[in-house]
Amino acid sequence: MSEPGRLAGRLVALGITGSIAAFKAVDLLRLLRAEGADVVVLMTPSATRFVAPLTLAALSRRPVDADVLDLLPDGRIGHVITADAADVVIVAPATAHWLGAMAHGLAADVVTATCLATSAPVVVAPAMDGDMYAHPATQANVRILRDSFGYRIVEPEAGSLASGQVGIGRLAALERIVDAAIDAIGARPIRKPDPADRPPRLIDADDPARDADDLAGRHLVVTAGGTAEPIDPVRFIGNRSTGAMGFAVCEAARDRGARVTLIAGTVSAPIPSGVKLLRAETAADMQAALASLVLAPTGAAGFDALVMTAAVADFRPAVTNPTKIPRTGAGLTLELRANPDLLAGLGRRVDGLDETGAPGGAPIVPRPVLVGFAAETGGLERAAAKLRAKRVDLLVANDVGEPGSGFGTSTNRVTLFAADGGSEALPLLPKRVVADRILDRVAALLDARDAAAQTGATSAAGGTAS
Ligand SMILES: Cc1cc2nc3c(=O)[nH]c(=O)nc-3n(C[C@H](O)[C@H](O)[C@H](O)COP(=O)(O)O)c2cc1C
Repeated sequence: MSEPGRLAGRLVALGITGSIAAFKAVDLLRLLRAEGADVVVLMTPSATRFVAPLTLAALSRRPVDADVLDLLPDGRIGHVITADAADVVIVAPATAHWLGAMAHGLAADVVTATCLATSAPVVVAPAMDGDMYAHPATQANVRILRDSFGYRIVEPEAGSLASGQVGIGRLAALERIVDAAIDAIGARPIRKPDPADRPPRLIDADDPARDADDLAGRHLVVTAGGTAEPIDPVRFIGNRSTGAMGFAVCEAARDRGARVTLIAGTVSAPIPSGVKLLRAETAADMQAALASLVLAPTGAAGFDALVMTAAVADFRPAVTNPTKIPRTGAGLTLELRANPDLLAGLGRRVDGLDETGAPGGAPIVPRPVLVGFAAETGGLERAAAKLRAKRVDLLVANDVGEPGSGFGTSTNRVTLFAADGGSEALPLLPKRVVADRILDRVAALLDARDAAAQTGATSAAGGTAS
């Protein structure tokens, strides 16, 4: 796995109570997810009046536990399962009322009940009006949590408060809360790595057999759109790609739990939210952006999978005129140079080969999954050969001449060519569904890659021992 987040593999129970700052828990959840955490959200009944459980369920990919008397669908007791499996419980924001309930062990809500039942570290970030926080009752409760229970208190900050006052009571910066949770976990082992021991995930409505979070902890890079190869400062050679197919892949990957980096060329569809955006106008820019992502600073693979939907120009003007070329009656002849095949170059780099295909460096470990797109006109005969030439794991080929397929449409009819020689022709489908079908393959290839690495590691370890 590339650049694992600081909470990769951890289950974080995020308890939200009825403060005006409850809306900030949405961003806190995003930060935790970006650190690779698996998150289950617990709410007091008051908190559900401030922020919709639906939002938190959609972002955490788990049902929200907001009723201490509700059982899980399989009959298990939610707060006990969470208490036993969580690597850390974060209560943010914590109200004055909740601090009092917790200090005295009053388990009338799911957040308090979980804290009482867990042996995981607990991080508490209070948020309230300044006078409420300064009150001796609140301060006494904070002391009990910190000094008697060993909870980490992330002290609120000074600033203007929702009450209109200025004082100490504003929820701490979210990064401080995340850092406190990471610090509290320290070097403890993951308590319950088996998903069966954790609270349930949301089931994907379209495909109940599929784990809706099957790309959690993965880093996917997606290129989208066309490129603009400059003729002069005003004119360029471009193509009709809008970015829509790549954006559908980004959204699907994001919704399945992946961290997504989008390298966008010339695009006309709206950029999806929740992804890291890098702009690349020309093929050379896109090549540089990809090169910057191939390796993490640690030397490990910088991403788990690349889905190369961008329509990168095959040719660029040999010379870019520094000033606008004036109109003349004589016309204009442009000399074009071939651009490098970015995906083929990356395929060789990943396998430790040089430009000529000869050994030329260390292969990238773990090997990222590479997915190419081939827009063809008039049949897909060349696709299988392209797959081999580019050294990709999956080639998604479509005939852009077909109605409803290719540029500027919301649908696509593609054939998936796999490295094992198999191919699957999909019917005409919405681009988002096509994206999910591609990601089904990516998720399976990544799982197979990791399983093979595990087996290799186990047999290597076994070999040493015997
Ligand atoms: C608009 C509004 C904002 C509130 N903000 C806070 C707050 O920031 N901190 C707090 O301790 N209580 C706040 N309260 C009061 C709590 O919602 C109230 O004490 C509630 O019983 C807390 O329930 P809980 O601790 O079970 O979530 C607020 C109430 C309202 C109506």
